[in-house]
Amino acid sequence: MNWKTKALIMRVCAIMPGGHTFYTLLQRQFGNLNDDPWSRVAVQEEMARWLLNDRITIEGKVFFEVGTGHKPVIPICFFLMGAGKVYTVDLNRRMDRKLLKGVLVHLLHKRETLIEKWKVFTSEGLLTQRFDMMLHRKDEPERFLQEAGIHYLAPADAGSVDLPDGEIDCHISNTVMEHIEPAVLSKIAREACRLLKKDGVALHFIDLSDHFQHQDPSISTINFLKYSENEWNRIAGNEYAYTNRLRAPDYISIFNELSLKVLRKEVQVNKNQQLSTGVVPDSSFGSYCEEDINTTDLRLLLQKKEE
Ligand SMILES: C[S@@+](CC[C@H](N)C(=O)[O-])C[C@H]1O[C@@H](n2cnc3c(N)ncnc32)[C@H](O)[C@@H]1O
Repeated sequence: MNWKTKALIMRVCAIMPGGHTFYTLLQRQFGNLNDDPWSRVAVQEEMARWLLNDRITIEGKVFFEVGTGHKPVIPICFFLMGAGKVYTVDLNRRMDRKLLKGVLVHLLHKRETLIEKWKVFTSEGLLTQRFDMMLHRKDEPERFLQEAGIHYLAPADAGSVDLPDGEIDCHISNTVMEHIEPAVLSKIAREACRLLKKDGVALHFIDLSDHFQHQDPSISTINFLKYSENEWNRIAGNEYAYTNRLRAPDYISIFNELSLKVLRKEVQVNKNQQLSTGVVPDSSFGSYCEEDINTTDLRLLLQKKEE
C-alpha cells in the first residue's frame, strides 16, 4: 500500500469515533495482526543470546517488558526459558485472548524443536516442565499467564509503575522505544534505574527506520527524515503512526544521563539509502553524521552505573 494512503487511514482512525475497532479490523485483514508468534520468537531468542554472551542467566530472573502490544510472545518465551517472573507493561490494553491462545498452540506444535534449540539457555528438564505446564493450561490462557508468573500490567505507563525499588533483573523492549516521545523516554529510563537491581541490565531493540517503508518498499528506509518536525507531526502525529525519529546517539545520551552505561551496542546501517534514493534529511538532522542518519536498527545492552 502506498505509504501516504496508509498514513491518511491512520490519521482518520485516530480521530473518528470507533476508529480503534476499525483500525484493528484493518490490521487483522490486511496487516500482520494474527497469532503467528515466530518473528517475535526469533527476537526473544536473540535477546537470550545477548544475555548469554554476557554470562547473564535467565533462570529465576525477574523481567520487565515495556510495551506488550497484542500478544506477549517475548514474556512467554522468557517464562519457558526459566524466568522467575515477567512483568509486561502497556499503556494500552491490547492483549487479545484469542491471539494468546493461538500463540500457545503454535509454540506447543514446535515443542520438541524449541526444547532442543533452547537447551543452550536453560536445562532440558526445566524447559520440559514449563512446556508441560503450558500444555496443561493451553485452553485457559489467563490461568496460564497467572501460573507462569507473567503479570500483564495494562493500562499502565512504564515510566511510573507500582513496583518496589530493585524488583527486576532485566528491563527489555522490542520496537517500542521509537514510538515514545523523548520526555517520556527519559521517564521510562529513570524508572528502569529505580526498578533494576544493583547488577541488573536493560536490553532494548529499537527500530530506527521509517515504519511506513515496511509496507511500501518504494520509499527509502529513512524517507521520514526529509520532513520538518511540524510536517512529520501532521503526517504521523497520532497514536498509530507516531515515531520519534531519534537517532542512535540520542538514545545513548538519554540512557547515559540516567545512569545506564552501554555494555554492548549493535547498529545496522543501510549505507546506500541516502545516495540511491536521493533523500535529503531536513535541516533539523544537520548535526548527525552519515552513519547516524542511515542507521535503521539499534540494539543496546545497558547496565546501571555504580552509585
Ligand atoms: C509497536 S508496539 C509493541 C510491540 C511489541 N513489543 C512487539 O514486539 O510486538 C508498542 C507498544 O508500546 C506501548 N507503549 C507506548 N508507550 C508506552 C509507555 N509509556 N508504557 C508502556 N507501554 C507503552 C504501546 O501502547 C504499544 O502497544
